[in-house]
Amino acid sequence: MKQPLARTTTRADLRAIIGDWRQAGLRIGFVPTMGALHEGHLSLVGAALETCDRVVASIFVNPTQFAPGEDLDVYPRMLDEDCDKLQAAGCHLAYCPTEEEMYPEGSLTNIRVETLSDLLDGGPRPHFFYGVATIVARLFVHVRPDVAVFGQKDYQQLQIIKRMTRDLGFEIAIIGAPTIRDADGLAQSSRNLYLTPEDRRGASGLFASLHRARARIEAGTPFEIALAEARDYLTQCGFSKVDYVTATHPETLQTLPDGQAAKGTEGRLLGAGWMGKTRLIDNIAFRRP
Ligand code: PAF
Repeated sequence: MKQPLARTTTRADLRAIIGDWRQAGLRIGFVPTMGALHEGHLSLVGAALETCDRVVASIFVNPTQFAPGEDLDVYPRMLDEDCDKLQAAGCHLAYCPTEEEMYPEGSLTNIRVETLSDLLDGGPRPHFFYGVATIVARLFVHVRPDVAVFGQKDYQQLQIIKRMTRDLGFEIAIIGAPTIRDADGLAQSSRNLYLTPEDRRGASGLFASLHRARARIEAGTPFEIALAEARDYLTQCGFSKVDYVTATHPETLQTLPDGQAAKGTEGRLLGAGWMGKTRLIDNIAFRRP
């Protein structure tokens, strides 16, 4: 039988529970979230359970990764429902800290992962990845897990966290878990809740466009042609604005030079665009055989 989910809002209680687990020699996994949990998040809990004896999930809508005018105030908050889902997924502890617990009065310290944070989604929203790195570093200090799991869906975030973990010497293994998709390919995301039924139909075009671009690149089509086709396809699917569709190095996220990928080239195709009022992102690996 699954153990009941423990729930705490304070760092002191969290440390007491984790301290007991550590004394018992248990391996601890961690899944940071902002709540509004869907199957994608629960699959991260599943991935942590594969290698850990105990799993902690945090639920904290982090204000520093929202700019003024973004959706902080309306971001979906459903703590009781989220905790029921965590319990059903086999998670052991939900850490739901207050803002004061994460950012004590007078806090001045932030984490910036240079370069990687300023590309792609970071370009127009420079505050975003600074806020993510800062909260994840603070959560790592509170939880001190052996393993932390992040979704590959937020691919740039995953590379930034890996880099921060390495640079700051956190002794935490970072796992990137595969994206969970609806039957038509749309990557699950808390922000899919904002899509109207009509937007929802067009939204699956994002994954389809990357999938097609991958097939074209792997068959030898030059990047610029395959990526231009993908952008056109997004417009046909009803995306009102395409922020980018690009082929990058899988870790540095630097744009791969135009032209035909040499045999054996591995990379990541990343796309972002607006469906109605909702910005969607997705990505897919490729390898030129
Ligand atoms: O991916 C998210 O939900 C958030 O960016 C994270 C990692 C929980 C930090 O607030």
